Amino acid sequence: MSQDQWTIVDDYIADLFVPHDPALDAALAASVAAGLPAIQVSPAQGKMLNLLARIQGARNILEIGTLGGYSTIWLARALPADGRLITLEADAKHAEIARANIANAGLADIVELRLGRAIDTLPQLAAEGRGPFDLIFIDADKPGYPAYLDWVVKLSRRGSLIIADNVVRKGEVSNPASADPNVQGVQRFNQLLAADLRVSSTVIQTVGCKGYDGFALGVVIAGQ
Ligand code: SAH
Ligand code: DHB
Ligand code: MG
Repeated sequence: MSQDQWTIVDDYIADLFVPHDPALDAALAASVAAGLPAIQVSPAQGKMLNLLARIQGARNILEIGTLGGYSTIWLARALPADGRLITLEADAKHAEIARANIANAGLADIVELRLGRAIDTLPQLAAEGRGPFDLIFIDADKPGYPAYLDWVVKLSRRGSLIIADNVVRKGEVSNPASADPNVQGVQRFNQLLAADLRVSSTVIQTVGCKGYDGFALGVVIAGQ
């Protein structure tokens, strides 16, 4: 089993289940043209996020880490006409490209992009009384994940769905000697999530065109 095979099968899955879509294709093309890193979720993962949001009946979504808005568009499309998605992005250039991609997808009225470091914008959302969010997707800087978890739970209700990307990192997550701050960030995040009595969670490993990684999934079980 190799990266080549994972990519071939991911292409097969995308060809079958993820039809080409003008707004998503344009968002990827604009992100490449602007020199953004191609680290967005894969097409099949984007569709999975969309399905999870629909299964959840989400009306109110929070995303941490926008990049060019690819996952944002997948998630926002799961919302009803009066739904809302707030997405947090620290990089002004990423935010500018994302805003254009989101507008081009016809989602400017549904999506609110907040420019700033999530560790600053999350407390602002709480202070404004925003939330509770039905679904929260964590996908920004990995060393920040542990600190985001507490805010995410504060911005949740019983039944909220928490999804975190990149929590396996080529399997390095199970290496206690890893010196990579990204790996250490998701190790700490997974530990905190597993021990958090307010959330029932697991991690699922994935392979595909983005390599070997995984998602954490949790449902908030504590009242609020
Ligand atoms: N969710 C996107 C990919 C996000 S990549 C998708 O799948 O399409 C991670 C993003 O998090 C990058 O755009 C990066 O600029 C942003 N980021 C990094 N540190 C951050 C921080 N402290 N606060 C908010 N966003 C941050
Ligand atoms: C990488 C992948 C991601 O999904 C992400 O959010 C950040 C980085 C990567 O492969 O480096
Ligand atoms: Mg990611």
